[in-house]
Amino acid sequence: HHTFVARSQKLNQPVPSKKAVQPQASYKVAVLGAAGGIGQPLSLLIKMSPLVSALHLYDIANVKGVAADLSHCNTPSKVIDFTGASELANALKGVNVVVIPAGVPRKPGMTRDDLFNINANIVKTLVEAVADNCPDAFIHVISNPVNSTVPIAAEVLKQKGVYDPKKLFGVTTLDVVRANTFVAQNKDLKLIDVDVPVVGGHAGITILPLLSKAKPTVSFTDEEIESLTVRIQNAGTEVVEAKAGAGSATLSMAYAAARFVESSLRALDGDGDVYECAFIQSDITELPFFASRIKIGKKGVEEVISADFQGLTEYEQKALQALKPELKESIEKGIKFVEKQK
Ligand code: NAI
Repeated sequence: HHTFVARSQKLNQPVPSKKAVQPQASYKVAVLGAAGGIGQPLSLLIKMSPLVSALHLYDIANVKGVAADLSHCNTPSKVIDFTGASELANALKGVNVVVIPAGVPRKPGMTRDDLFNINANIVKTLVEAVADNCPDAFIHVISNPVNSTVPIAAEVLKQKGVYDPKKLFGVTTLDVVRANTFVAQNKDLKLIDVDVPVVGGHAGITILPLLSKAKPTVSFTDEEIESLTVRIQNAGTEVVEAKAGAGSATLSMAYAAARFVESSLRALDGDGDVYECAFIQSDITELPFFASRIKIGKKGVEEVISADFQGLTEYEQKALQALKPELKESIEKGIKFVEKQK
């Protein structure tokens, strides 16, 4: 889907008169943690969307410069900066989609769960403000560990009496982006054609690419399946190690998150053909949350694509069973974190 437009004007072509221009859809998007490694390039990509009328950039510091910089791009959305807790409520009022990449990233040797203590508090505080100021918005949680921060967000929204499970998404798009890239490379396929559903969660072995459901249909040897699966599961760590202490994936993550934002906006705008993977409340397994392919509509999750779970290979079935204990523990850790603070 090529919906990002760099607004170029062709030479010798008259700029259409105001009347002739199709009215653009106008959605407001807030990025919480907008001055960070993910937040900056993500905000740039969202600034390129024709579906956005206002881009609210929130961070605890350094967001004024980011907003001033982005505001010079001649794309439709208005960029507004919000700094610190006292401006958080205003950053959220009237917003349709809230994206949360606030928090600390991994350093070499760390698991996503090592981030729990810091990021759990950040996500809790931010989602409380979302509940108070834009309870109807789609919420995209990027801050890790996603397997725990999404249950935290759900508990906070429940406490506030505004939880709509169809509108809370853990962003796992990067796992799909990586799976698509690695499969296309491995099989010498045209990248644009490849789509691999990735299910489960967003950490280590909880990330399960369903290679048997890849489009186009491709056959893999057992060795290829094993090495591709492990590479997709550890791709984040590949980046953490390459950055050697300077953080984790930011640019590919921004790309993936921007794709998920654009998909959400298209769904809000009435496009009836929007499918993405995301970590959501789900009854596809006995666990309360699970990532899978979903159809997104105007009201959020419209359908969980259960067909992806039929006819799994033996490898996939085993991996699916094997990931559940870890995922269950991470989900419960998130829920307990909020309950303890009641
Ligand atoms: P970063 O450290 O570069 O940026 C984080 C930003 O959050 C900073 O600008 C910081 O000021 C801000 N922040 C901290 N506390 C805040 C608060 N209370 N309110 C608002 N903003 C606050 O980190 P980076 O690389 O951008 O990563 C952010 C998060 O995204 C990390 O938790 C990382 O693990 C996660 N991540 C998730 C991925 C996914 O696939 N879901 C992939 C890669 C990273």
